Amino acid sequence: MHLIAVRDTTLAVHTRGSGIPLLLLHGFPLDHAMWAGQEPLAESLRLIVPDQRGFGRSGGGGPESIAQLADDCVALLDALHVGEPAVICGLSMGGYVAEHIAARHPDRVRGLILVDTKLEADTPEAQAGRRDLAERVERVGQEILADAMIPNLLAKSDAARKSPRRGEIEASLRRTIMSTPISTIVAALSALGARPDMVEPMRRVTAPTLLVVGAEDTITPPECLERAEAVFPNARLLIVPRCGHMTPLEEPATFNAAVLEFLREAAGHPAVPVAAG
Ligand code: MLT
Repeated sequence: MHLIAVRDTTLAVHTRGSGIPLLLLHGFPLDHAMWAGQEPLAESLRLIVPDQRGFGRSGGGGPESIAQLADDCVALLDALHVGEPAVICGLSMGGYVAEHIAARHPDRVRGLILVDTKLEADTPEAQAGRRDLAERVERVGQEILADAMIPNLLAKSDAARKSPRRGEIEASLRRTIMSTPISTIVAALSALGARPDMVEPMRRVTAPTLLVVGAEDTITPPECLERAEAVFPNARLLIVPRCGHMTPLEEPATFNAAVLEFLREAAGHPAVPVAAG
């Protein structure tokens, strides 16, 4: 990991490989480690995998808004001298950040990959649930969040539970959540609850878009991505069996193959600048 000064903070970022830049944005309340299964993509792509503001080893004290996280990412690309448009890929909260990058900085986006996420804003009930969760985390600690989230992050079917990697995945998610500062969790829950609806801005995205969701995702179920497919001018949807809300972590080989196929197809798309490297 490198520590890079970006805007008013320092972001920790893992980089590897060369070629088309692929920015991988983690979900809440995780960090870059959730993308460990995407390391093989570094054989053909330039992976850029940050800890977002307040998460992992990054500074910043937690996000004020999803737009702030999006602007951090563009400043990080600048700091890494990534001048050409990148493929922007985000899972869940990272997906919201990717949507904001596409809306605020469309010239930086070669392709968009949205994973286990949605376009719609929170309902008032969801916002109240986040406020309640933030209050309990402040009172009790990260454990309450780990206990509440981990069972819902992963697929629940027998086939998925029997995966030999299941125990290791659960343990690593718990470790990450337990080490996320409470101030970051509270700030992020507020930023997540306040995020705007992105349906209308996403209608104007011309970059090729890949939507991926686990068939067993209960946080952002396949219907969320089916609705999104109808919004983007140029999107296709992949529903991955035996996955919950963490598709790239649960089925990395399927996910990685989908990314490479998407990039092969996108290379012929008129909106995609010619690949460098
Ligand atoms: C995530 O996985 O990043 C969160 O579940 C997103 C959310 O709570 O909306």
